[in-house]
Amino acid sequence: MSNARLRKVVFPVAGLGTRFLPATKVVAKEMLPVLDRPLIQYAVDEAVDAGADTLIFVTNRYKHAIADYFDKAYELESKLAKSGKDELLALVQGTLPRNVRCVFVTQPEALGLGHAVLCAKPVVGDEPFGVVLADDLIWNGHSAAGRPGALRQMSEVAFREDAGVVAVEEVPREDTGKYGIVDAESISERAARIRLVVEKPKPEVAPSNLAIVGRYVLPGRIFSLLERTKPGAGGEIQLTDAIEDLLHEKPVLAYRFEGTRFDCGNKLGLVKATLHMALNDAQIASDTRAYLDSMNNS
Ligand code: G1P
Repeated sequence: MSNARLRKVVFPVAGLGTRFLPATKVVAKEMLPVLDRPLIQYAVDEAVDAGADTLIFVTNRYKHAIADYFDKAYELESKLAKSGKDELLALVQGTLPRNVRCVFVTQPEALGLGHAVLCAKPVVGDEPFGVVLADDLIWNGHSAAGRPGALRQMSEVAFREDAGVVAVEEVPREDTGKYGIVDAESISERAARIRLVVEKPKPEVAPSNLAIVGRYVLPGRIFSLLERTKPGAGGEIQLTDAIEDLLHEKPVLAYRFEGTRFDCGNKLGLVKATLHMALNDAQIASDTRAYLDSMNNS
């Protein structure tokens, strides 16, 4: 992986978002907003920050909103232009930099995360690529704060070490059954070489409490491994199981990224992310703080 950079990032967005029903009857969960931007925008910004120029959305037939969101909005743009609303126009046109293209592939059946990633094979080919799960919002201030997003941090390590890299974070032991869990040997302050990875183990058999969160940098080789991966936990084709196979061929590192992760796949996580962004938003930070204080005192 050494002389190249991360160009392609896959966004599996075909999930049903059942934790946010009934909203997700019509709104893809990746379109749920944190303040004024949908989750998928944060995810895409992180990929672009990492250098990506090809974004591959693995979607299902109900998720047109994501394609529409990144497409040109002719009518809206011309109205805003005519009425001189330049700031709003810049927001509408700024969802994607000009050099970045989107490719949409469908996952005909919901057979698991590994299967979703495999659907991107014809677009990714043989090169290293990123995977971003948009409902894990990882915030490090990004370019605006002059700090690299999690995916950029990971891709730098991946290319330098010629390794696969997955983002990890410690979780409470009782939560191991929600995540891929790694057993890893530390090689530096933030990186550890994975010895073993298990999908959603019960706390009593989990090898540790170090959980994979929704960021991966993987070699193209993972596709061949996914092609022969049998259904695993929950009867689904698991990316974690293909990564376990990859370990026997090539180093895969668990990386403790710099930044804060919000699990926006559930209500509390979405509320926390919203509060965090509100408290860092120049326009509404002080009113938000005042409101929170008033709740404390009531
Ligand atoms: C998926 C992966 C799991 C990972 C998690 C991170 O699970 O299968 O290994 O820890 O994402 O969010 P899901 O949340 O889709 O059940």
